[in-house]
Amino acid sequence: MTKKSYAMHVSMIVGTTVILLLFIFILVGHHRGMPDRARMDRGALLSSATSVAERIKPVGQVSVLAAQTKPEPVKNTVAPPPSRDGQQVYQASCVACHGGGIAGAPKVNDKGQWAKRIAKGVDTLYASAVNGVQGSAGVMPAKGGNPALSNAEVKAAVDFMVARSK
Ligand code: HEC
Repeated sequence: MTKKSYAMHVSMIVGTTVILLLFIFILVGHHRGMPDRARMDRGALLSSATSVAERIKPVGQVSVLAAQTKPEPVKNTVAPPPSRDGQQVYQASCVACHGGGIAGAPKVNDKGQWAKRIAKGVDTLYASAVNGVQGSAGVMPAKGGNPALSNAEVKAAVDFMVARSK
């Protein structure tokens, strides 16, 4: 080996070593903060017992409810089905009287019977339908006698009846 090629050899080794060391430094520097960060994340997740309890609660409730209600369908504890539209409410709870003008009820489609009522304003009609009204023509029961209806459902039925009667 000549002196020149020996020197080149040494400088190559030194150069490679420097690059390797640099690489290790960067690697170590990058990972040094990791355990701390991991601990912080875990701390945040487990910080409050209530948040853990809240996160596991629904699962427990669902399974308990399912176990309790298996033999029989739930009565009254379940929220009412998604709001029915005006026509559905009318068909279910109003048509009995208003479909044929029974018991003094203004008949849907009869413009003559509805004109005076519509003239009172739709809010008055809503109030009569929701709270019931004792008029000269007869008794309009609150919510058509179906207290399970929401106010919004009764109003939708009024809208439906009024639209059909002008
Ligand atoms: C048991 C029969 C009966 C049922 C069921 C019934 N109504 Fe009536 N409704 C009446 C009678 C009778 C009147 C007329 C009352 C009066 O003005 O003398 C009336 C009047 C009304 C009026 C006019 C009120 C006013 O101020 O002029 C509206 C609006 C109305 N009903 C909506 C409904 C809706 C909506 C339903 C269903 C959710 C319904 N009704 C179910 C008997 C009924």
